[in-house]
Amino acid sequence: MRIWSVANQKGGVGKTTTTVALAGLLAERGARVLLVDLDPHGSLTSYFGYNPETVEHSTFALFAEHMISAREQVQALLIPARDTGIQMLAASPALATVERRSLSGTGVRISKALALLWDDFDYALIDTPPVLGALMVNALAACEKLLIPVQTEFLALKGLERMLRTLEMLARSQQKALPYLIIPTLFDRRTHASVSSLRTLRNDYPERIWAGMIPVDTRFRDASRVGLLPSRLDAQSRGVEAYRSLLKILLSVDNAPAAMKSSTALR
Ligand SMILES: Nc1ncnc2c1ncn2[C@@H]1O[C@H](COP(=O)(O)OP(=O)(O)OP(=O)(O)O)[C@@H](O)[C@H]1O
Ligand SMILES: [Mg+2]
Repeated sequence: MRIWSVANQKGGVGKTTTTVALAGLLAERGARVLLVDLDPHGSLTSYFGYNPETVEHSTFALFAEHMISAREQVQALLIPARDTGIQMLAASPALATVERRSLSGTGVRISKALALLWDDFDYALIDTPPVLGALMVNALAACEKLLIPVQTEFLALKGLERMLRTLEMLARSQQKALPYLIIPTLFDRRTHASVSSLRTLRNDYPERIWAGMIPVDTRFRDASRVGLLPSRLDAQSRGVEAYRSLLKILLSVDNAPAAMKSSTALR
């Protein structure tokens, strides 16, 4: 199983949309996909028609006092993401209490749970809350690759700096650097703010940024309103096409020989 996390301390930058869009495209290719909702608001959970307030099983169980240690226990928490074939570990508001706890012992709960599902899925995609806390730390510790959606507007650039400083800190404390890719999102080529912040991003992070960008596309809102995978609502929309080319890059890095990996953006 390959585990990718989608994170940015800043809210509303397209984390959940990126998670859903990529999961849908992976599932279309025949991959067995698991979605993990680590956001106490449960946007991903709601996307597929569940109410986070009342959902029967949630990732909160993984942080309970009695640690889950058997594969069947984690499997019992899975719920289907509608009829997409994708399975999900849902979120509930109780997850917010995890943020307030001290990190000791709880930083690798998600890694451990996903290790138990290793043979059940090809990909796990983790959606995170816009908060640097225990939940994000869990997501970062569990994944082999981090995707950082960044909205192409000026305020977002500051948020990105903070996010990257945090990553450096974590890398030092865990003594492993996490490969990451910056994904420009909500790009609107008619606005000066979008065009010039994309230019700044490319200039400041030439090795870390995906060469493409995700355009503003109203089909994403339409898809979330009806709870459909974006690629199922409109397989040819500009936004879906953009995620398709992003996925191509992500997969080519996964499948490249080790020697090549060191020369890609996902170092
Ligand atoms: N490329 C896009 N074009 C148009 N709308 C988009 C795009 N990406 C996301 N959106 C919309 O913007 C809003 C915020 O997106 P999303 O929920 O994915 O962000 P988020 O980073 O997960 O937010 P939060 O930090 O609150 O979890 C949603 O209404 C979503 O439908
Ligand atoms: Mg979200």
